[in-house]
This record gives sequence, structure tokens and C-alpha cells, in this order.
Amino acid sequence: METMGKLSFLITTLTIVMSISSTTSQSSIQNFLNCLPYSQVSEVIYTPNNASFSTILNMKIQNKRFRTTTTPKPLAIITARDAYLVQATVKCAKRNNIQIRIRSGGHDYEGFSYVSDVPFIVLDLFLLNSVNVNLKEETAWVDSGATLGKIYYTIAKNSNSLAFPSGVCTSIGAGGHFSGGGYGNLMRKFGLSIDNIIDAKIVDANGNILDRKSMGEDLFWAIRGGGGASFGVILSWKLKLVQVTPQVTVFNVKRNVSEGATDVVYKWQLIAPKLHKDLFIRVQPNVKIGKGGEKIVQVSFIGQFLGTVEKLLPLVSESFPELGLKESDCISMPWVNSTLFWYNKPIGTPLEALLDEPKDPQPVYSKFKSDYVKKPIPKEGLESIWKMMIKGENFFMQWNPYGGRMEEILSSETPFPHRAGNLFLIQYLNIWIDESPQVIERHVNFSRLFHEFMTPYVSNSPREAFLNYRDGDIGANHPSNVTKFDIARTYGSKFFKENFERLVNVKTKVDPDNFFRYEQSIPTRSTN
Ligand SMILES: Cc1cc2nc3c(=O)[nH]c(=O)nc-3n(C[C@H](O)[C@H](O)[C@H](O)COP(=O)(O)OP(=O)(O)OC[C@H]3O[C@@H](n4cnc5c(N)ncnc54)[C@H](O)[C@@H]3O)c2cc1C
Ligand SMILES: *[C@@H]1O[C@H](CO)[C@@H](O)[C@H](O)[C@H]1NC(C)=O
Ligand SMILES: *[C@@H]1O[C@H](CO)[C@@H](O)[C@H](O)[C@H]1NC(C)=O
Ligand SMILES: *[C@@H]1O[C@H](CO)[C@@H](O)[C@H](O)[C@H]1NC(C)=O
Ligand SMILES: *[C@@H]1O[C@H](CO)[C@@H](O)[C@H](O)[C@H]1NC(C)=O
Ligand SMILES: *[C@@H]1O[C@H](CO)[C@@H](O)[C@H](O)[C@H]1NC(C)=O
Repeated sequence: METMGKLSFLITTLTIVMSISSTTSQSSIQNFLNCLPYSQVSEVIYTPNNASFSTILNMKIQNKRFRTTTTPKPLAIITARDAYLVQATVKCAKRNNIQIRIRSGGHDYEGFSYVSDVPFIVLDLFLLNSVNVNLKEETAWVDSGATLGKIYYTIAKNSNSLAFPSGVCTSIGAGGHFSGGGYGNLMRKFGLSIDNIIDAKIVDANGNILDRKSMGEDLFWAIRGGGGASFGVILSWKLKLVQVTPQVTVFNVKRNVSEGATDVVYKWQLIAPKLHKDLFIRVQPNVKIGKGGEKIVQVSFIGQFLGTVEKLLPLVSESFPELGLKESDCISMPWVNSTLFWYNKPIGTPLEALLDEPKDPQPVYSKFKSDYVKKPIPKEGLESIWKMMIKGENFFMQWNPYGGRMEEILSSETPFPHRAGNLFLIQYLNIWIDESPQVIERHVNFSRLFHEFMTPYVSNSPREAFLNYRDGDIGANHPSNVTKFDIARTYGSKFFKENFERLVNVKTKVDPDNFFRYEQSIPTRSTN
């Protein structure tokens, strides 16, 4: 048995070697595979020769722009089932100078967790996905491969008054989401995910497993918002769960621009960041087809209140009467049900839907960007923004109010710097299904044009951006195996502002050889 296994492994390796054209990557991938602990290898390694290579690769690709025949593919995918194989992968890849891409949920908007422009392997963590709630401590240890849906579901199975503040899309992975900040509709009350993370386990560039105590406060600071993939492979996180009311109230009120939506949005800018912390109201401008077949702008005001309708209505009629919120617009439900509401699932969808994996083939092509708004956009500005939106195709926005808890946390407390002084965060979303290269280019072009158009209304010097809303346009290293400091400073100052320098210091200390690198990684002091 043992000999048979060895033989077939050798044959596999030989086949891989013959099928790869580049001689350097050929010998290094062979050496890499030989270096891995033998007994584990066959069931967890997929090379392009394996029948299920594409299935495994595509399973977590959330953006079809990075799933085409011309998209560079990894030399191998390691689907780690335990920490030991993560350690071995890091050590063996480092020894053989092979770039690794770490993937948890695969939601990276630019595909940086599974695509590279130099030869690479993917370390896929989807099998490491356990969630363990400690009710007494009101904490949970979650593996990086766990999805937000699984985390929400498991918390709710244990308690109807505990929750965790993080994102809206339930198939996002904990690994990327938490290391990039992680925000959702509990943000005004409890801050970001990273503000509620109290410990973590990471495999560092030497292949050692560290926890908060052994990694030290600098590295623990860096991985909460600085992006994990510059520092190591995060295995798991310890979450401090938060208390929510047994029922939360949600609503989605729509107003067309022809019905005065502009005035309502204008007022929203003034009050949404100042509202009671228990109330979060997102503004979502969409382009719709009007009665005469013409394009119109319709704005959704999507809200969540940590409390009952009876308490919500007087609060809104006092501070935001322009919204005209009625009792019939509101639905009360346990917090966990609200996570499905936010993900656009019909009321009554069973909670098990939180455990759904995205179906193959993945639905969409997409391009996203972000901006921060610090002063109210004048009404004429809003009008011109609606006119510009109508010129796009499949283009919409989400405006997420800050304030509340976000104001109370110093911008240096975590690498995520966008705290006090922000009225709201804009996400620009362009999502389409047509796959012709020209259509793809047209959409990406429009996103860039729109971002340019928004310049007068948003932050400048630097033009801030949110790391989790990954955008390669704001600066990126190509090829990604060399991290140029000047380029890194362009994206680094937008994502992290003054915190960039401290991130560079941490990086220089924990990964002086710059093993953990990608297009937008943190550089070491010595990289040029
Ligand atoms: C539909 C959709 C909705 C979204 N909604 C929100 C939202 O509401 N709020 C919000 O904050 N964000 C949101 N995002 C953005 C999302 O948080 C980021 O894309 C996040 O990085 C995804 O994490 P992931 O593990 O799924 O992604 P991946 O693509 O697996 O990883 C993203 C990045 O993190 C790195 N990484 C992943 N795992 C690890 C690890 N274990 N150790 C070290 N590095 C790692 C990757 O190498 C890559 O650089 C949304 C994205 C999508 C597609
Ligand atoms: C990949 O193919 C090789 C050779 O056929 C086999 O030994 C190995 O088990 C396969 N890997 C997986 C994960 O199926
Ligand atoms: C980076 O990758 C390119 C392309 O594979 C290669 O030519 C170059 O030598 C690499 N540089 C370093 C520093 O590894
Ligand atoms: C608002 O737009 C929607 C979608 O096009 C339409 O159904 C509705 O009738 C519009 N309302 C008004 C008052 O124009
Ligand atoms: C919340 O989810 C539970 C479990 O699926 C369901 O029984 C209940 O009806 C839901 N409540 C609401 C208001 O959606
Ligand atoms: C996209 O923009 C570029 C640069 O402005 C331009 O050359 C190209 O023609 C545009 N492509 C499409 C499909 O509009």
C-alpha cells in the first residue's frame, strides 16, 4: 500500500513536471511537492492533472472576471485539513521560493487570493471551518475557512441574544473579512469585526503557530485590518460576542428621485451618522426602468434598529420625518433572521440558508470601488450623481453611515484608519453577466470614470479607500513578486493613512524576507 502510494505520487509529480513549461517553476514546484509531509499529500493536493482541479479552484471564485481561460492558474492547490499542513506549506513554499496565495472565502474583489501574475500555489482553507461558541464567556473561536453565515447560524443555535458585528454577504470567509476590517449593520453600535476580536492563531513566515500572547501586540494589531496575507496564514480568530435585543426591526423604504428622493438623501447625510447608535440606515441608489421605459433613479433606505417598532417609530419621526417611515414598512425578527433579510432573502427563508455555499457556475462578473465622504454633498451634486449613474449599465451604490461607536475608536487603534470625521462610506458596485471582453472592459471603464467623477465630493489627500473593497486601480505591484515601496505607499496611504508606517515596521520585523507578498501587500523597510 505504502509503496503503491509512493509510486503513484512519483508518477503524478513526473506528469506535473512534464506539463509545466517554465523550467524554474517546474523544478521548484517539484521540490515543493517533494518537501510536503508525504502521508498527507495525495488527498489534499490538486495539480492541474487532477480531474477535480478546476472544480476545487472555481468553487470559491466569486468574480467571473478571474475565471476565464486566460486567467493564470496555480501550479497546485493545497486544501489544508489541519494546521500542520499549513505550516508545511509555508515552510516548503518559502524554501523553494514559490509564491503562495491564501484563500478563505474567495470574495476578494480583485481575485488576489487565487490569481497571480507569477507562478504560484493556492493554500485553500475552506476545510478549516469550525465554529465553537463558549456561552459562559460569550466568545467564539472560528476558523478562517468558516463563512459568516456559518458563524451567524452557530451563534444563534447557542443563544438568541448574542451576535457578532460583521458583513452582509453570508458566504464571505472569516480569513479575509476579519483581517481586512469587516463591517456590517451593527457597526454604529459595536464597531467593526476587528474591534471585537480578542485573540488569533497565525502561522508565521517561519512556519510557527503563534497566538496573541506569543505573536505580541504589534502583530496582533497588524492582522486586525492590515490584511492578513502580508503577515502570515491566520488559522483562527477568537470573537467577543455582543449582546443584542431578542427582536430587531428592519425596513426597506424606496423613493424615486421624481418623488423627492434627493431631499431625503440630503437630509440623511446630515443625520444618519448622528442617529442613535441602535439605528443604522443604509442608502442604496439604484437605476430602475420607469413607466415610460426610461431610466430613473430609485433610492432604497434600508434600516435596522436594535429594538421594537414601538421604539423605532418615534425615534425616526423626530430625527428623520422626511423618510415617512410607517409601521407597515417595519418587520421585527430575531437578529439571526435579519442577516438573511440583509442578504435579500425573502422573509421566512429557513435559517439553514445561512450555510449555503455559492453555486457553481458563479453568477457574476463584477468591479467594485470605494470612497469616504466627509462633508455633505450639496443637492445639485446629488442631482448630477443621479444623472451620471443613469449613463452606466448595471451600476449602483451603497452608502453606509458611520458615527456612533466608529467615532469613539481612535484611528490608530487598529490599522483601519477611517473612524471619526466620516459621514459615510460609498461602495460602487458594477455587476453584470455578459462575458464578452468588450463588455467587461466597458463596465470596468465606467467604474473608473464614475470614481473620477466623484472626486469633488469625497475625501482627498489621500483619497481614502476600504481594504475589504479591494481595488487594484489605486496602486498595485506588477509583477507581484517585487513589492516596490513607492507603489506600496500609494495604496498603503489610501487604505491605512498614518498606520501604513507602523504596518511596515511590523512587516519588517515578522517577515523580513517578504515571503508573504501580493499585489497590494505591506512592504518591508528594505524593499525598493
Ligand atoms: C458579495 C460581497 C459582499 C460583501 N460585503 C461586505 C460587507 O458587508 N462588509 C465588508 O466589510 N466586506 C464585504 N465584502 C468584502 C469582503 O469582506 C472581502 O472581500 C474579504 O476580504 C473577503 O474575505 P474572504 O476570506 O472571503 O476572501 P479571500 O478572497 O479568500 O481573501 C481576501 C484576502 O485576504 C487574504 N486572506 C484570506 N484568508 C486569509 C488567512 N486565513 N490568512 C491570511 N490572509 C488571508 C487573501 O489572501 C486575500 O488577500 C463583500 C464581498 C462580496 C463579494
Ligand atoms: C490527484 O491525482 C493523483 C494522481 O492521480 C492522486 O494520487 C491524488 O490523490 C489526486 N488528488 C486528489 C486530491 O484527488
Ligand atoms: C519575478 O517574477 C518574474 C516573472 O516570473 C521573474 O522574471 C523575476 O525574476 C522574478 N523576480 C524575483 C525577484 O523573484
Ligand atoms: C417609482 O419607480 C418604480 C420603478 O420604476 C415604479 O414602479 C413606481 O411606480 C415609481 N413611483 C412613482 C411615484 O413614480
Ligand atoms: C426566523 O427564523 C425562524 C427559523 O427559521 C422562523 O421560525 C421564524 O418564523 C423567523 N421569523 C421571522 C420573523 O422571519
Ligand atoms: C476603455 O477605456 C480605454 C481608456 O480610456 C479606451 O481606450 C477603451 O477604448 C475603452 N474601452 C471600451 C470598451 O469602452
